[in-house]
Amino acid sequence: MSYNLLKGKRGIIFGALNEQSIAWKIAERAVEEGAQILLTNTPVALRLGAINKLAEQCDAIVVPSDATSVEDLRNLVDKALEYFGGKIDFVLHAVGMSPNVRKNIPYEAIDYNNFFKTMDISALSFHKLMQTLYENDAMAEYGSVVALSYLAAQRTVEGYSDMAEAKAMLESIARSFGAIYARKCKVRVNTVSQSPTLTTAGQGIAGMGDMYDYTDALSPLGNASADECADYVITLFSDLTRKVTMQNLYHDGGFSSMGVAASVIEAFKRGKE
Ligand SMILES: NC(=O)c1ccc[n+]([C@@H]2O[C@H](COP(=O)([O-])OP(=O)(O)OC[C@H]3O[C@@H](n4cnc5c(N)ncnc54)[C@H](O)[C@@H]3O)[C@@H](O)[C@H]2O)c1
Repeated sequence: MSYNLLKGKRGIIFGALNEQSIAWKIAERAVEEGAQILLTNTPVALRLGAINKLAEQCDAIVVPSDATSVEDLRNLVDKALEYFGGKIDFVLHAVGMSPNVRKNIPYEAIDYNNFFKTMDISALSFHKLMQTLYENDAMAEYGSVVALSYLAAQRTVEGYSDMAEAKAMLESIARSFGAIYARKCKVRVNTVSQSPTLTTAGQGIAGMGDMYDYTDALSPLGNASADECADYVITLFSDLTRKVTMQNLYHDGGFSSMGVAASVIEAFKRGKE
């Protein structure tokens, strides 16, 4: 169902790799709500993923860019301003990757070159993106920039490794840049802390299947799906949330506020019998 929440708005979507990607769902919902979008991902992801199918479906153009490359980001912003014929209303940063996680290297034996790459791809890229947008005065007044985060920024989630530090930095960048962007250009910056979701990146985390079931059982509303995340992010792109900025917003069925759940204790007891 469409509410025309993004009618006439124009935005950049990072991170749609395949149909499971959270960014894929957000791109579809944004267009459903009346937006015009530009899709971007790394050249490798463009080759291996299914983004062209999404582009066709959404009547969007695709511009390759590695989110760690300022040169690529400058080109992306130039192309977006040209394509839209005006300023950008919303930007989604749905970018994350840890070579340590990908190579199953334990946290206590971390490779520091990999660690730098994790931070660059998953956190610093958010600063690089906003700095590029800012320098080009590319965002419209009350524009909205959203990045996707995860609870491991605040609480230890075993197996999430150095992505925890990356998410903590990502959320901090949202607050620091958010203050400047709001004062100088009236642009909003927020992170959405999403439930475990069965995507390519999500499934790279060791034990993701069991963790998904555990958080689903502990969350009073159950895990939030990628489609539900898309619905939430659309509200943040819309004019209905014009004074929401510098926040880390949990979208997790209540998981982040839970301590003990009777249903989980019951299941634990049954397992011991
Ligand atoms: N899946 C989950 O459980 C979960 C939960 C909370 C937050 N998130 C976050 O959501 C975001 C999207 O992930 P997803 O779960 O949809 O998985 P996904 O694998 O579909 O998306 C990750 C994307 O990051 C892109 N990417 C990697 N390196 C890049 C680079 N250098 N430049 C540009 N793009 C790059 C990939 O190509 C891919 O499209 C990530 O930030 C992830 O950490 C995921």
